[in-house]
Amino acid sequence: MKPPTRVNHPPAVDVPADNRPLVAPIYQSVKFTFDSVAESERESRGQRDGFQYSRVANPTLRQLELTVAELQGRDACLLTSSGVAATNLTMLSLCKQGDHVLMFAEMYQPTRYMIRRILSRYGIAHTMLSIEDVEGIERTLAARATRLIMFESPTNPMVKVAALERMTAAARAHGALTLLDNTFAGFHNHGQFDIDIYAHSLTKYASGHGDVMGGAVIARRELIDAMRTDFIIFGATLDPHTAFLIQRGLKTYPLRYERQCQNAMKIAQFLEAQPQVAHVSYPGLPSHPQHALAAGQMHEFGAMVTIELHEDAARFSEALQLFAISASLGSTESLVWPGRLINPRDLTAEERQWAGVSERTARLSIGIEDIDDLIADLQQALTSGTATQ
Ligand SMILES: Cc1ncc(COP(=O)(O)O)c(C=O)c1O
Repeated sequence: MKPPTRVNHPPAVDVPADNRPLVAPIYQSVKFTFDSVAESERESRGQRDGFQYSRVANPTLRQLELTVAELQGRDACLLTSSGVAATNLTMLSLCKQGDHVLMFAEMYQPTRYMIRRILSRYGIAHTMLSIEDVEGIERTLAARATRLIMFESPTNPMVKVAALERMTAAARAHGALTLLDNTFAGFHNHGQFDIDIYAHSLTKYASGHGDVMGGAVIARRELIDAMRTDFIIFGATLDPHTAFLIQRGLKTYPLRYERQCQNAMKIAQFLEAQPQVAHVSYPGLPSHPQHALAAGQMHEFGAMVTIELHEDAARFSEALQLFAISASLGSTESLVWPGRLINPRDLTAEERQWAGVSERTARLSIGIEDIDDLIADLQQALTSGTATQ
């Protein structure tokens, strides 16, 4: 072979079947080939296993799909290039013109945007309630045929907890599908409930290091199969290298999440005792209105702590040294996100009351750092400058 041919047809290196790499290799290939047209045809008809094109299926992605589906206690998964792609493309795939979606003021703002601004363009109606209004949820489902309930637990950013038993029972009774963005709670939580679809931002706890983005939609196989072609056509799949990094991050997910939750609990308790802090929202605190609900639903209480100060949270956020002012959450390092940057401008005055975010709010994403260092940093930020009452 001459060089231009050789570089495009490099020598093949086969690994013996009894001599496997301990870490699965990255299948960084868009295309897969068969030795015969007949076998390629059989694969595309679903008559044999195999791969053709990485937007459709890829072995590195398949390993991650199987892992996260099992962690969440379901059979199947679709991977997406971000968390918003996971939730939003699921809604797009499941809903059609004339459908009704139930949503909540306390949700992640881009999810609200998707339902109110984008799905509405396609004739999909919605009702927005507070996640705390369980009677309102039951009433709405009884009064109006609803295709989908889109919700979070705990919610971003106010860490309110959804009444999963009652919500799923009402949804089942009235034929609505439930789609839970389970990013805050993690894969090991909420699998025991009768929830149809779980969406996760893999950008957060799953990858854990704040360096890649991804999303997962996890459900029973028949639901995933019903959405699969739509997702292939939406085209927002994950790149194999990103999937590999998320798979690697998952190795320490249980350890990281456990440590982050332990730190979060200590921080919540510390902050609740500080005079500069008007209120601490953390489901692990007995003062949280849904503490009992959270204790019955989750193995632990998550790593997000949202506080209300007596003053604008900007100064406090800037005074913190270890907590960086940054969006996102769930990575190994601690972050702060002040209310001025969360500001839910799309909500009415009443909906803002439900959402509960103000300029005095600070959302803390707790990392795996040493707890004494984190508390010392919070202490100095509260007591420096003008943070006193
Ligand atoms: C609860 C929740 N869902 C979804 C997302 C979106 O994830 P991504 O940034 O991976 O699209 C976020 C991001 O902050 C989130 O907090």
